[in-house]
Amino acid sequence: MSSEAEAPASVPVPEEEDSSQSISKKAAKKEAAKQEKLRRRQEAAAAAAVSSLSVDEEGPLANNYGDVPLNELQSVNKPDAGKWTVAVNGKEWTKVGELTESMKDQEVLIRGRVHTTRPVGSKLTFVVLRQRGFTVQCVLSQKPDSVSKQMVKFVSSLNRESFVDVIGVVSVPGGPIKGASQQVEVQVRKLYCIGKAVPNLPINIEDAARSEIEIEKALQEGEQLVRVNQDTRLNYRVLDIRTPANQGIFRIQSWVGTIFREFLLSEDFVEIHTPKLIAGSSEGGSAVFKLDYKGQPACLAQSPQLHKQMSICGDFGRVFEIGSVFRAEDSYTHRHLCEFTGLDVEMEINKHYSEVMDIVGRLFVTIFDKLNEKCKKDLEAVRKQYPFEPLKYKTETLRLPFEEGIQMLKDAGVEIDPLGDLNTEAERKLGQLVLEKYGTEFYILHRYPLAVRPFYTMPCEDNPLYSNSFDVFIRGEEIISGAQRVHVPEFLEERAQACGIDVKTISTYIDSFRYGAPPHGGFGVGLERVVMLFCGLNNIRKTSLYPRDPLRITP
Ligand code: 4AD
Ligand code: MG
Repeated sequence: MSSEAEAPASVPVPEEEDSSQSISKKAAKKEAAKQEKLRRRQEAAAAAAVSSLSVDEEGPLANNYGDVPLNELQSVNKPDAGKWTVAVNGKEWTKVGELTESMKDQEVLIRGRVHTTRPVGSKLTFVVLRQRGFTVQCVLSQKPDSVSKQMVKFVSSLNRESFVDVIGVVSVPGGPIKGASQQVEVQVRKLYCIGKAVPNLPINIEDAARSEIEIEKALQEGEQLVRVNQDTRLNYRVLDIRTPANQGIFRIQSWVGTIFREFLLSEDFVEIHTPKLIAGSSEGGSAVFKLDYKGQPACLAQSPQLHKQMSICGDFGRVFEIGSVFRAEDSYTHRHLCEFTGLDVEMEINKHYSEVMDIVGRLFVTIFDKLNEKCKKDLEAVRKQYPFEPLKYKTETLRLPFEEGIQMLKDAGVEIDPLGDLNTEAERKLGQLVLEKYGTEFYILHRYPLAVRPFYTMPCEDNPLYSNSFDVFIRGEEIISGAQRVHVPEFLEERAQACGIDVKTISTYIDSFRYGAPPHGGFGVGLERVVMLFCGLNNIRKTSLYPRDPLRITP
């Protein structure tokens, strides 16, 4: 769809979204009370656990383990060095992901979360330690000179997700280690807890990391595994984002921003930061958050549209911005958020708006190539939980005129208004047809009907019913809208009025063009959509760290 500021067409809502749609205020209150009760119970259990864990052992072996008191972690210049301080002094931390067989017999200091503990009787326990997606099996067995029975008990009763420092010796077992990423073990000599987790976590990381395929397979074999639904995940997002797939998703998201920035800087673009508190709506339509700005009516910016164009009038030539965008969306779909991250571009045009589409094509082929090259491990982690096929794209990006797209849909039996917008279903269908005909899941559809584009869009010279504008699709869903803009102030004013916009609220924007403005164009990208569709995910909430939608403003 051309302007996302308008109410989105209805979308078949994936099953897991239904639950939050039906949450009423009463149910939310009940849920909050339940959570509060659970939290109190957890606190009580944690307090009990702490007292039962207190180390009452005396003698030198007692120095090899225990909870590290806060004052030891508060300062480097401790008056009384505690046992942890003494143990780690002069040592460097090795990353769990860097533990290899070549380190056999070396003593290492590692830090990580207690992923699982598996006591075998009172004298032996296994602890899998996790650090940023990597895991290693640590073995603790009672030894007269280093490991006491109390130490085995202390380690066995550590709560999952607690943070610990381990000093131990790397060993290489005879066979493969199934439950850990690193194919070495650490024979524990010392272990200290530096950050305790409560005993009953609301989400188990193992459960949250499970794929639908695993759950289904187990079910067929008669075993019922826990399935964590989307709302529970989002309520406890801080736990949910610890899963390997989520770690992958947000590292991929970080790379998209980095590649976007690096590419544009290398093409002479200037990074800018525009205000999010503005006097009038930037995209028109009803999806705008209104607020009181010290007694004056104001809005949260629906895009940096107006200010990025004003910056072109200010002579930067080419600009881009990565920033928050706010839309007061009314409907609850798999691809609309009330706050998302916009990747925006604006540039002078020499001859034709195809120069803007050139940048889109080269920029996105670079992003896809580099993601495939740099994020292999992250993509694999996402694929393991949410299987998907790699994106099919060509080095030369396909540009399909809107009228041709309409014809393809008509030929396939889809009834469509040639001067109207495409709804979500038609966009999906066209995506399939383009894939069959051109072998790509990434393409540009351009020359949209003028009537479905925002007021600032330049009409086509040869036919004013159409416009110098485009949308860009991945797997049949929109990720970008862009266009050449009207840079002649009188015409811009006329277009704004024709689109029902109160010109007074955007007078400073329109005035910018009265002082001389070059022909220009640009586009806006939704970061969360790019990651969602590149990874073939079914819901934008999976690619927004702390999503904001019509029903959610926490955590
Ligand atoms: O299509 P939109 O509304 O276009 C603009 O904002 C123009 N100012 C762009 C331009 O430079 N002409 O939004 C741009 C992109 C969409 O293609 C979509 O990827 C994303 O922003 N987007 C949303 N993402 C998540 N939730 C929403 N509610 C979104 N609305 C738009
Ligand atoms: Mg759009």
